[in-house]
Amino acid sequence: MSKLIVLSNRVSLPNPEKKAAGGLAVAMQDALHDIGGVWVGWNGERVEQFSQLKFDSVQHQGVEYLTSPLTEQQYQQYYCGFANNALWPAMHDRSDLIEYSTDEYLTYQEVNRMFAEQLQAIAEPDDVIWVHDYHFFSIARHCRQLGMHNKIGFFLHIPFAHEAVWREIPVASRLLQDLCEYDVVGLQTQRDQQQCMRICQTMLSGEEIHPYILRYQNKLTMMKSYPIGVNPDLIQHAAAQPLTSTQDIFDFDSLAQQKTIIGVDRIDYSKGLLERFDAFAHFLASYPEYHQQVVDLQIACPCRMDIPAYQRLYQRLEDQIAAINSQYATADWLPVNCSHQTLAHEVLMKIYRQSDICWVTSLKDGMNLVAKEYIAAQDADNPGVLILSDKAGAADQMPDALIVNPHDREAMTRALKQALEMPRAERIQRYSRLMDGLKKFDIVDWRTTFLNDLRHNSFLYHYKMPLRAQVSPVIH
Ligand code: G6P
Repeated sequence: MSKLIVLSNRVSLPNPEKKAAGGLAVAMQDALHDIGGVWVGWNGERVEQFSQLKFDSVQHQGVEYLTSPLTEQQYQQYYCGFANNALWPAMHDRSDLIEYSTDEYLTYQEVNRMFAEQLQAIAEPDDVIWVHDYHFFSIARHCRQLGMHNKIGFFLHIPFAHEAVWREIPVASRLLQDLCEYDVVGLQTQRDQQQCMRICQTMLSGEEIHPYILRYQNKLTMMKSYPIGVNPDLIQHAAAQPLTSTQDIFDFDSLAQQKTIIGVDRIDYSKGLLERFDAFAHFLASYPEYHQQVVDLQIACPCRMDIPAYQRLYQRLEDQIAAINSQYATADWLPVNCSHQTLAHEVLMKIYRQSDICWVTSLKDGMNLVAKEYIAAQDADNPGVLILSDKAGAADQMPDALIVNPHDREAMTRALKQALEMPRAERIQRYSRLMDGLKKFDIVDWRTTFLNDLRHNSFLYHYKMPLRAQVSPVIH
């Protein structure tokens, strides 16, 4: 049977000491445990010399993990540079933060080539390759140039930029052409999917031959939305276990008389953290009766700290939280309690269950799994309330959350008050509808749908066949 090969920049190695943090890591581990195969990517280490680059293999529960370091230069130019200082801000509508450099782009291509060569080394002709995220827009092109005919799919976990922003990236057309070398391109939302189709038509003169099939230079690519989900049953099980004393970083017992609001984010400018704390400060100023009654718990994980925009944000966030606490804290009340710890996924689920409210205030977000995980972790008899940004992909699927515009401080303040005062019956009603939604398309549906499209749509394997013959079997 053909194996599945997953490629992503980060690989969550099966080391119990390492704590799985991101939604992508958790989702992929689940997928690979069930299907079996190889997970290829960066091992998080850096070396000085190109000659020190080497892929190491670890086997765990039927899955092979094949990872390599990056050179310091690759780390700076590919990861900190083109991926996170050009593509990331572009995809999150922050053209003010895009810093493009040709050298960095060339190193991005060098790293894409290096991973494509590794795929070539391990792939049998009928293996299916699933590439993840903006670090690897160009893998399929390199694989094709290396003579590979495998089915190769790509999933973009982050939003797809507007055309105006794409046009600010000097190599945009090249990247979009590279995208068209994949057989299936998965996006989080219908909005992203439509945007991707439209931009490939306008910028590449690709042709839409079906609402989710693009023809570009005689190649067909399926471009479809696959909104990533969670595993509600597993989360419920984990969340229902008690927090041990070492896991209880916020000491929930001491907060028993107060309402708790949880936020869990990487410290990233796309997450709207400054806007959130601005709204919280406004809430405290507007409703003094809530002083001592409410505590904002924030797990804020520093990331990409070699990039100046992230260093600046970290400092601003620290200052903002310190300002709120110094204005309002009393001997027995700290309004904002912020931890920078990266917690194990299962601990996070328990913390969600203990928290009365969760707020997700992204300014732009592919999906946002915190929103889904928070709901899945709740106690059905006494669930908490989710406040969710209308700019997160999850908002399309979670209309029973309190949906807010994160730029609107008044609306955020009102939503917080509404959440704090929401009667139990309404909380239960919203929760059950949200849970139904989570169960309707969960993480297993997400990956099986994507992989079915990739494996079974033989029309996509067309290169030598007349287009008419390729297309007819798929369009139902
Ligand atoms: C977030 C995004 C993912 C992305 C990851 C990279 O979690 O949602 O799409 O792959 O960041 O994070 P890193 O720490 O590797 O820069």
